[in-house]
Amino acid sequence: MLVTALTKLLGIRVPVVQGGMQWVGVPQLVAAVSNAGGLGVLTALTQPNPDALRNAIRETRKLTGKPFGVNITLLPSINPPDYAGYARAAVEEGVKIFETAGNNPGQLIRYFKDHGCIVIHKCTTIRHAKSAARHGVDVLSIDGFECAGHPGEEDIGGLVLLARAAQELQIPYIASGGIADGRGLAAVFALGACGANMGTRFMCTVESPIHQNIKDKIVASSETDTVHIFRTLRNTARVFKNPVSTEVVALERRPGGAKFEELRDLVSGARGRKVYELGDPDYGIWSAGVSVGLIKDCPTCDELVRRIEREAEEVIEGLGKLRVSVEKAKL
Ligand SMILES: Cc1cc2nc3c(=O)[nH]c(=O)nc-3n(C[C@H](O)[C@H](O)[C@H](O)COP(=O)(O)O)c2cc1C
Repeated sequence: MLVTALTKLLGIRVPVVQGGMQWVGVPQLVAAVSNAGGLGVLTALTQPNPDALRNAIRETRKLTGKPFGVNITLLPSINPPDYAGYARAAVEEGVKIFETAGNNPGQLIRYFKDHGCIVIHKCTTIRHAKSAARHGVDVLSIDGFECAGHPGEEDIGGLVLLARAAQELQIPYIASGGIADGRGLAAVFALGACGANMGTRFMCTVESPIHQNIKDKIVASSETDTVHIFRTLRNTARVFKNPVSTEVVALERRPGGAKFEELRDLVSGARGRKVYELGDPDYGIWSAGVSVGLIKDCPTCDELVRRIEREAEEVIEGLGKLRVSVEKAKL
């Protein structure tokens, strides 16, 4: 068994978190990850309102007796969602673990900590990690350049970012971005992390709610099949490479660039959601990380989490064999 600060703090068997995923982090997936021994995380904003989140929490509880969390993502928005309402609904429903992500999480973190909850905050820079630690989060989730969704604007790959985390952070952290197997999990332990957060890998599981065609597309893809959009708007997002994301990038690269209004229809969330419903990978924008290149099958969450655990243990054991006594090395 792999016992770390994360497994002890959260009361889970395997140090693997399924990160919040818009339209994907729904009760059936969350419960499957938690039942498999990891931490499933419901995505609050996938639910249309706080009451719907209450129902999703109750539904998840019917499917698992294991710990699970709720993600609240603070997005740059002109008309922000009712974050406080979602947070209150989840706390009142007895949720004890939260994943926060996005800008200015201070107030939300304080609210959760005042209610005795554990907070995992996801961030992409050491500066933001230190600021979240000052706000009192329990665990940081350090999201490197490889990740699906928003990697920030500084383009630091996980290898350096995690090593920097080891130098700078005084509280436990997990690694996020580009991890999809036990080898990745073992690697991030070496970089000081106490677990891994995975998004793209869990999209491609039996219990993931997206259309089978999209899962098949992920299996058929390579590590070169994602692209960054919104670079010029300083709101970079890593998404699957398709005609829509390619057009967005082309518009951004025109002389003078593109305003968000010009991209709005192409990038609309409603269109992205249809990708998962219709099973047409070219219908809109959908998040995916570089780890699509590592994904070769679509297992159940139970098979996947067990495999990751076993592989990580094998890799760690193998690494131990690198170290031999001086006498033996001379032979
Ligand atoms: C389809 C999809 C949707 C996502 N939506 C969110 C989201 O709403 N909020 C959030 O904090 N992170 C979101 N993420 C990021 C994941 O939680 C996680 O940080 C990321 O996927 C890690 O990188 P990986 O995909 O390489 O494992 C999303 C990722 C994917 C693949």
